[in-house]
Parts: sequence; C-alpha cells; structure tokens
Amino acid sequence: MYKTFTVLMLSMFLLQACTQNKSTLENTEPNSGQTMKLEVKDIHSFAQPHEARIVHLDWEAKVDFEHQRIRGVARWQIEALANAQKLVLDTKALEIDRVTIGTNEEETSYSLSPAQPHLGRGLHIDIKENTEWVTVYYSTTAGAEALQWLSVEQTAGKEQPFLFTQSQAILARSWLPVQDSPGIRFSYSAKVEVPRELMALMSAENPQEKTKDGVYSFTMAQPIPAYLFALTVGDIEFAAIGPRTGVYAEPSTLAKATYEFGALEAMVKTAEELYGPYRWERYDIVVLPPSFPFGGMENPRLTFATPTILAGDRSLTSLVAHELAHSWSGNLVTNATWNDFWLNEGFTVYFEQRIMEALYGRDYAEMLAALAVTDLKEEITSMIADGQGQDTRLKLDLEGRNPDDGVTAIAYDKGYLFLRMLEEKVGREIFDAFVKTYFEDNAFQVMTTEAFIDYMKEHLLEKNSVDMEPMVYKKWIYGKGLPDNAPRPKSDRFAKVDAILSAWLETGQLPNTVKTQWSSHELQHFIRSLPEDISLGQLAVLDETFGLSHTGNSEIFAAWMVPVIRQDYEKAYPQLEAFLIRTGRRKFLMPIYSELIKGEEGRKRALDIYAKARPNYHFVSTHSLDKLLGHDIKN
Ligand code: BES
Ligand code: ZN
Repeated sequence: MYKTFTVLMLSMFLLQACTQNKSTLENTEPNSGQTMKLEVKDIHSFAQPHEARIVHLDWEAKVDFEHQRIRGVARWQIEALANAQKLVLDTKALEIDRVTIGTNEEETSYSLSPAQPHLGRGLHIDIKENTEWVTVYYSTTAGAEALQWLSVEQTAGKEQPFLFTQSQAILARSWLPVQDSPGIRFSYSAKVEVPRELMALMSAENPQEKTKDGVYSFTMAQPIPAYLFALTVGDIEFAAIGPRTGVYAEPSTLAKATYEFGALEAMVKTAEELYGPYRWERYDIVVLPPSFPFGGMENPRLTFATPTILAGDRSLTSLVAHELAHSWSGNLVTNATWNDFWLNEGFTVYFEQRIMEALYGRDYAEMLAALAVTDLKEEITSMIADGQGQDTRLKLDLEGRNPDDGVTAIAYDKGYLFLRMLEEKVGREIFDAFVKTYFEDNAFQVMTTEAFIDYMKEHLLEKNSVDMEPMVYKKWIYGKGLPDNAPRPKSDRFAKVDAILSAWLETGQLPNTVKTQWSSHELQHFIRSLPEDISLGQLAVLDETFGLSHTGNSEIFAAWMVPVIRQDYEKAYPQLEAFLIRTGRRKFLMPIYSELIKGEEGRKRALDIYAKARPNYHFVSTHSLDKLLGHDIKN
C-alpha cells in the first residue's frame, strides 16, 4: 500500500515532465547512490500509467465456442492522479459495447484511437476525480490474435473443442482491454463460464476437477503483467505429481505427460535451493494440443506446454526447467519493455542450465549448452547476412516494430553466455549470491537494462572488488555479435560423437553402442554435424539404424528434416508432411519451411503443405510463416 502511494506521489511530481506511456520504477542513480525514480517509456503500449494505472481486475467471461468469441466484462480497479481525466487501455480487434465508472456503474464516454500496426487501438476512457473502478463490456472478434480456437478434430481426444491463449508479447490486448505493458502489474479474480463438458484453467489458482455447471472461479493474488494473463479451455483432466506440482492434459495424453514430468517436484526444490523460495504456491503444467506455437509459456502457476516435448524418455524436460525458472526471472523480476527482453530470457536460460546441471550433472548440462551455442552462432551469422545485425545486441531497439522481431537466440543464448561469462569471472559462489539477491531485491518489479547494469556494478562488481572494465559488459550489451571472451561450453560427450562421425564417414562403420548408449542430445548433435554432401545411401543407413523418420522425439525429427530436405531423401516426405500439418510449434516450422523453399520443387511442396496446414496454426506461427512464404491470405 505504502509503495503504491509513494509511486503515486512521485508520479504527480513528475507529471509535468511526462509525455506518453511512461511508468515509473525505482532505480539507483549511478553517482549519488540515492534512490530515485526513473521513467520507462514503453513504445508498445498506449497506456499512460503516470496519469491512471490499473491495479486489480475482476473479470467475468463467457466462452462461446459456437461463435468463437469471448464476451467479457473487465472491472478495473485503478489508481489515478487527483486531477486525472482519463484511463488509457490497449485494445486490438475488440468490440467495445459500453464503459462505466464507479461501483454504481455510471455510463461514461470513451474513444478508440485509430488502429496502428502491431499495437491496435488505445481505448481512452473519461474518468472523474476519485474514480476507482472502470468497467468495460466487450467481446473479442475473429481478429483476436492471442486466441486459438481448435475444432474437435484438432484435439487429441477428437470429441470436444479446445481454446488456448498466448498473450506474450503484446497479444493480451486482443482478448482483454488492458494496459498491456510488462511494467504494469495487476492482481485478478475471474469468473469464467464454459460449456459444461469442459474445464477452464488460468494463470491463477486453478480447479483440479470439472464443475457441474461449467462455471469456474479464479484468483491470482500476486500482481502480474498483462503478458502473463492466460486461459485455456478443453476436455482437460488433472494428475498430481508432488504436493505442489501436477499436470493437466486431455485424458488420452495425461498418463504420458505424468511420466514425462516425473521430476517436476524435484525441479521446483532444486530451483529454490539455487535462488530462493518459489513465490507462486503451486506449479502445474498444462499440455496443450500440438498447434501451440511455443515450446512453453511461463504463465504463472500454470506453464502452458507443447506436447512435442513428450518424447517418452524425459529427454526434453529442460524446457520445463526453463519455464519454471521464469517464475523468478520474468515473472518476479520483469523486463521493463520488450527492448529489455534479454533480461527475461537470458537469466532464464542461465537458471534453466543450473537446474539441469544440479539434477543431471555437468556433462548433461554442457551438452545442452553446446547445442544452444551452435544454434546461436548460426543465427548470428544469418542475422548479419540478412541485414539484421543490429538485433544481435542484447539491448534491442524495437521502435515501430513487432516485439516478436526480438525473439531470437540473442536474448536467450547470448544473454545466457553473458551471465555465464560473469559467473566464470567472479566464481560461482559469488555469482549465485548475487543472482539470489537480485531476485529478492527486485521481486514484483520491473528491470531495465540500464538499471540492471547499475545493480550489477554495485552488487556484483564493486561489492566483491571485481576488476572489470565497463567496456567489457557494454560490448556484450550494446555491441553486435558474440564478444571474444564468450565462454565456450565444452562437451566431452559431443567430442566423442564427432570422432564417431568422422570414422563413420571414412569407413562406414558405426559402433553398436551408439544405439544403446547415446542420449537423444548426442544423436541430435550427430545429425546436426552431418556434412552437406552426405549421400542418399548414407542417409538411408542412418534412417535404418536410428529409425529417424519415425522417431517420437520432435527435436531429433526436426534436426533430421534438414538433411532430408537438402538431399531430397524422399522416403521421409510423408512423415514430413504429417509433422508439418500436426505441429504448430514455430521453432520447428521455421527451419523446416526455410529449408524447403531453397529449391524450386521444395517451394512448391512447402506451399502445398502450408495450404493444408495453415488452418492448424496459431497466429504467432502464421504471422511468421506468411512472411517467410510470401503468403497473402489475410485472416
Ligand atoms: N516466454 C517464452 C515464449 C515467448 C517469448 C512467447 C516471446 C512470446 C514472445 C518462453 O519462456 C520460451 O522461451 N519458450 C521457449 C522454450 C525454450 C527456450 C526452452 C520455446 O517456446 O521454445
Ligand atoms: Zn523463456
């Protein structure tokens, strides 16, 4: 309470100087060592939080599968300056029915600003002195880019339809009128009505059983930014894993998911041992249908996950460690704007690596790191070749662009390597203490890149008398590409794979042990290291040996598709087509389609498949693929 009050007072003080879209945050001024307020301008939101900001939401919604529409009532509790005249919310493709103010629901006037590319429209609502509640009656439309409505056939069970949302980065505004900026947090309660046969889940305290009437109530007591507002509805059941962990999935997927995430409780415990208490009570995962466009999404209390990580052998669960790690990096300490995205993802990959190392050993974690670094280097090369060199900086400049453009390996793996470089410089013990306090000190607050630099200087470098020239970290953060002092993950297991590959290429001999002793990561590394001029005969041998075209491991399959397409190994095309139609995960789709369109025949094949597959993909994926394939269908 006191904190919000302070922010408000300071905001008032700063008001004259303020232009648009600025939220305040605490920061330590470099020279004086005094705490002061910094303004953060979020170029991806119309909100003017210094004048009036949202603090709590009571949401009522009816999920209408027949019309593929959510009818909603968003009751916002706000905090505003005494002389504030309006509350500005972000919207995109929403139909606004009416807006009221106060608990007595007095009708008020509002206007929608003209639509802007990526951003949608600002909803300017007239408020009065002392207005504390603003209620918006609205519905979503077919243009709701966060929502994916799945038909019965697109689910595992094939009996009930399904809905899920994906709000990050700026899609929350397409299903909720909200100040859609990562620096603005709100707590919420919700009452959601869905068809009786279905269960609804949110990024909140969740049910474990279906209700009789299809009405579900939720509360999220901790304040979250809009990009973590999430809902899914379907024929979903729950299974417990540990006392505070569990998994939700369609009934036919539940047993497989429960096995796959068997280490979940141990992961939470390991994460806490590293960097402090888990602040969100329960940690559950919901496994969505395969069209989910990401591997995972860190919605608080309930990670949304792709079924493509259900490999049957727990080999792809570093993704769970990643989403869990976001419960600290991202969900507690949140990037102030999408230009600071590396603070969310770089810290999360670092934390994920540490969880995997603690659970499965250094050897194992180094394989993961080595795979990531290979990808990173390839991506940097291709970004530079494509004239995207400026996006190889950690601190981004996404002005006028979709924040989605900033989702590259830079934020993730260059961010990771930067933190690992710091760790190697100061030693693990010091670094771990630093990371832990960083999460504690900044919990439920936003972080800019600049505030991070100040924090690091004070709490890591100066405190421990570490000698590091500002040039060193500035080069990482504001410079392009990968600095020379980047750590080089070293995997002995991969070195052995390399030796086996060379020998095989020379002699045609593969030791029998590769089938029994290699982990899926070693196999993945082997496939990725195949030379470009590998023959069809050699591919056939590998396919036969490892059953690659029929593997249930999506990472292996996706890696395998590169040489398959490059050498035109036709035997695998039926599986390729089936995979592309079934799976909507962008990380797999982009490289496969990119490889396909390199040749004339392949381009034709890609477009044929895309025509069939596109209805199965979420907006996030079609948006990227339309650009890649020069597709001109507008939804
Ligand atoms: N928060 C991201 C997904 C995201 C990022 C959605 C930006 C929209 C905009 C999530 O935590 C993530 O990083 N997912 C990765 C997982 C991985 C790196 C282990 C994914 O989906 O592949
Ligand atoms: Zn992430």
